[in-house]
Amino acid sequence: MTDITVDGRMIALAKELRDDLQRFLNEYGFGLKEIETKLEILRDDFSHEHEYNPIEHLSSRVKSPDSLIEKVQRKGIDATLESIRENITDIAGVRVTCSFVTDVYRLFELLAGQDDIVVREVKDYIAHPKPNGYQSLHAIVEVPVFLPRGTVMVPVEVQFRTIAMDFWASLEHKIYYKYDRQVPQELLDQLHEAAVSASELDERMENLHHAIRGGGRPAPAPIQIPERGGSAAISA
Ligand code: GTP
Ligand code: MG
Repeated sequence: MTDITVDGRMIALAKELRDDLQRFLNEYGFGLKEIETKLEILRDDFSHEHEYNPIEHLSSRVKSPDSLIEKVQRKGIDATLESIRENITDIAGVRVTCSFVTDVYRLFELLAGQDDIVVREVKDYIAHPKPNGYQSLHAIVEVPVFLPRGTVMVPVEVQFRTIAMDFWASLEHKIYYKYDRQVPQELLDQLHEAAVSASELDERMENLHHAIRGGGRPAPAPIQIPERGGSAAISA
């Protein structure tokens, strides 16, 4: 080792810690790949069988070490890998953007129903939007990753949403950060109205889609965005 110059023991320890953290984060990257592959298979098979693509966009990320450390501190979690593994379930994240609400639920059910998947938590912000208007279906699923040292169950947060929900969420996110979380009431009201419009657009597009294709399932009942100031109901 050439980098041991001042305090050999300290530098060797730092390297060991870095290797442990990298090994830990790699596992989440592997879990992410497994989930992405499953979703791509569902998409490709669905496209072949039904002649349209239920997934408009698929994106994924592993939390950066900086953002992980920030979350550990913010949540007051023990800074051990075991505690982080147990308490932080969005280290690996996949976002699935669909055209229609029915595809959101269909893809979730097809993924959640697979033999090797364990569903740890579901938050249905589509059936129960957040008071600000946020809509998406969140699921924490665990997927097995087979390694020479054994099998690890890796939690992955999967967010399913429509294009309209995604459009709204990315703008809301930008506004939230631009105003450093202190968004003026006027803008909050406008965002809430925009969420209602997005939800109406989803309903219209779904109805049009059914009218064009005929048959199949009927469009789901319209979603009610709660009045601003109400509490977010979460279904598990
Ligand atoms: P954290 O995991 O600490 O963020 O809290 P939580 O477990 O209560 O999270 P939740 O499942 O409600 O949301 C997790 C993720 O969903 C966030 O990191 C965002 O990516 C997204 N999200 C949730 N609420 C909002 C929102 O109001 N606006 C936007 N733009 N994104 C949101
Ligand atoms: Mg979370």
